[in-house]
Amino acid sequence: MEAYKAMLEANKKWVEKCLKDDPEFFTNLSKGQQPQVLWIGCSDSRVPANEITGTRPGEIFVHRNIANMVVHTDMNMLSVLDYAVNVLHVRHVIVCGHYGCGGVQAAMTSQQFGLIDNWLRNIKDVYRLHVDELDAIEDETARFDRLVELNVIEQVFDLIKTSIIQNAWKSRSEPFVHGWVYSLNTGLIKDLGVTFDSNSTLPHFYHMRHMPF
Ligand code: CO
Repeated sequence: MEAYKAMLEANKKWVEKCLKDDPEFFTNLSKGQQPQVLWIGCSDSRVPANEITGTRPGEIFVHRNIANMVVHTDMNMLSVLDYAVNVLHVRHVIVCGHYGCGGVQAAMTSQQFGLIDNWLRNIKDVYRLHVDELDAIEDETARFDRLVELNVIEQVFDLIKTSIIQNAWKSRSEPFVHGWVYSLNTGLIKDLGVTFDSNSTLPHFYHMRHMPF
């Protein structure tokens, strides 16, 4: 069977199962959403946000792009972030990268891939910030793994540089911003221990006051 047909069939079975477990499942979900988490992850088909975290429809608000980037000119990401933080009032924002990320791997090479080179250049900039540490790692896989981690950490910093996050912290001391990495090999998520709920770790020139008007 063609993949898309199988998906439509699977959807019907999934609806049946959901209704068997809870006849009100869709009725309740249709009333609205109150997710506690915004997930910023990679588009990679092997890292499905809900499935790997055991979460159900309604539990996480999701934004995915190649290599889980927080790019300050990305209107899509900024709109998702603003809506999640200021309308849904999520308690947590999680950047989740993954080892073996094709986007990060491509950024480590000199090869051209087309339009995507402009997106991947943001990862090269992460490499530049950490060039001493990365170039000191001789094993190529270990260096790749470390760039995946450093990329997540830099995206966490890119999140907390935004007025969206900093203004939210002033008004309600939330959300907590986390950096995680998922392993394709084990299925396990590693918390990188870079959780922030204030801008105190940022250099002073990134700190933002409220607008004076
Ligand atoms: Co990826």
